[in-house]
Amino acid sequence: MRKLLAANWKMHFYPGEIKPLLNELITHWKKAEWGAHPTVLFPPMIYLREVISYLQDTPLQVGAQNGYPGEFGAFTGEVSMAQIAACGAQWVLVGHSERRQYFSENPTLLRNKLVDAQQRGLQVIYCIGETLSQRQGGETFAVLRQQIEEVLSKDTKWNSLAVAYEPVWAIGTGINATPDQAQEAHAFIRTLLAELGAPADRLSILYGGSLKPDNAVEIFSQPDVDGGLVGGASLRAETFISIAEALWNSPD
Ligand code: PGA
Repeated sequence: MRKLLAANWKMHFYPGEIKPLLNELITHWKKAEWGAHPTVLFPPMIYLREVISYLQDTPLQVGAQNGYPGEFGAFTGEVSMAQIAACGAQWVLVGHSERRQYFSENPTLLRNKLVDAQQRGLQVIYCIGETLSQRQGGETFAVLRQQIEEVLSKDTKWNSLAVAYEPVWAIGTGINATPDQAQEAHAFIRTLLAELGAPADRLSILYGGSLKPDNAVEIFSQPDVDGGLVGGASLRAETFISIAEALWNSPD
């Protein structure tokens, strides 16, 4: 089963706003036929422990949006991958375009993060995607190849990796990739992963970028789109639930 759904809450929610949303999701996931399929929530770090304990004994899993390589040390403001794992999180995001763009995260750091996270037992969603000018300049495939090859290698633990294709021009803009654009990029990514020695047929490749209830069915119907990393539409139970329904009702 390659299908996977993830909610990236980014820098949203104040204390008190989270439990009502979690309650709605828990109720729905417990009663839905597909509720046992893997769904991961990525809350802001400050709520990580609270969300993990609240979701115990539910089908929903939890991950961190970011983490720093290592165990502990003098890195003011950072939270280590080891601390995240010790808190009971199962997943971490690495390489999100907002981290690359606003926090200048470079390939060497991303590689260290990914390797360290996997060593600590975390599963990683590694995010890649081209900017608008790169797409317009015909560089999409070259950029995807570079982002894959500079961070993943034959030593990557493939059984704890998912990849998210998130075109930067689609993130938070309301403009999603067309189903054909998504399929083309996903198929290319799967080929690249196979070249690196990954069991590419078994790896989840998620689409992210303005996923909404009204585009999810078509995007998820593409054969190489295995799920979604949802930002804005994951902040409300109603929209996240209908995206989940679109995924779990899509063909395998
Ligand atoms: P969006 O964000 O769904 O709000 O476009 C997706 C993401 O950044 O993961």
